This record gives sequence, structure tokens and C-alpha cells, in this order.
Amino acid sequence: MKDLLRLRTSLSEEIETLLNEQIKVEAHSSAVYLAMSSWCNRQGFDGSAGYFLKQSGEEREHMLKLFNYVNDLGGRALSPEITNVPQEYDSFRSVFEAALEQEIFVTKQFNRMADSCMKARDYITFQFIQWFLKEQIEEEYVARRALELFEVIGEEGVGRFEIDKRIPKIEYEKP
Ligand SMILES: [Fe+2]
Ligand SMILES: [Fe+2]
Repeated sequence: MKDLLRLRTSLSEEIETLLNEQIKVEAHSSAVYLAMSSWCNRQGFDGSAGYFLKQSGEEREHMLKLFNYVNDLGGRALSPEITNVPQEYDSFRSVFEAALEQEIFVTKQFNRMADSCMKARDYITFQFIQWFLKEQIEEEYVARRALELFEVIGEEGVGRFEIDKRIPKIEYEKP
């Protein structure tokens, strides 16, 4: 029966599992960004609160893109259970450090998935995830630029106020 069911999709069990894991990672990212938005809001960092809220929405879109892909191919997309969402941060800067770390982790995940797709000769999924690999260039760029503002502007005096104002204006110009 299980074998028969497997015929409903061209996805291998391994790739389907990896895609579901990534659905969970994107959903987790979305939840983490939402908590970051709330933390910034509580501290009076309005610009950053808006920035993280927007990021949270984008991560949910990423999740749905993966989710729909799995189902469209006849697979079984799983609605993920999200745990381990930090609600508190030690400092304004540490929020952005965590954000960059998260994006670097996601890039690595997609690289691993690309690797698995090649090994499994799943070229259709390989092609599908190209969009995400490209997107990660932008995601990492923006997260890194945000963190760099802490160095460039400095946190003393009205520094944090300036940083917060500039965070939502960071843009990646696609080559
Ligand atoms: Fe994402
Ligand atoms: Fe992201």
C-alpha cells in the first residue's frame, strides 16, 4: 500500500521530507521575526518593529511557496508545529545578530537541499529551489547591512535612534 501511495508523487521520500523540514524552517523564521518585531516595538524601536513585521510576512510567503509545491506535486505538505521562539533579547543589536545568523542558517539549508536534489537526480525540485537560493543573497545582504549600521553609526547618543530610522530603508539592488 505504501509503495502504491508513493506512486502518487514523483517526489522521493527523502526530498519530500527535506521540503517539509524547510517548510518548518520558514515558518519558524516567520515566528521568530514576529517576536523580534514585538520586542522592538516594546523598546520603542518603531522602524525596526515594522521591518521585522515585513520580514515575518515574507517568510510566511516562502513557507507557502514550498508548501504549495509539495502538494502540487502530489506530495504531503505538513502544517508545521512551531516551538522555540525567543521572545526576549538582551539588546537592540543582539536582535540583528540573531536575524543574520538565522538567514545564514537558511542559506546553508538550501545549499544542502540543492546537494540532495542533485544526488537524488530530482532536477525539478533542484530547479524549484533556485528561486530560494537567489532570494537568500538578498536576505543575507539586508540582514548584514542592518547589523553593519551598528558599526557605521555607533550606538552612543542618538545612535540607536538613527539606526532604527535607517533599518526600514535598507534595500538590495538586484544586479
Ligand atoms: Fe525565507
Ligand atoms: Fe529570510
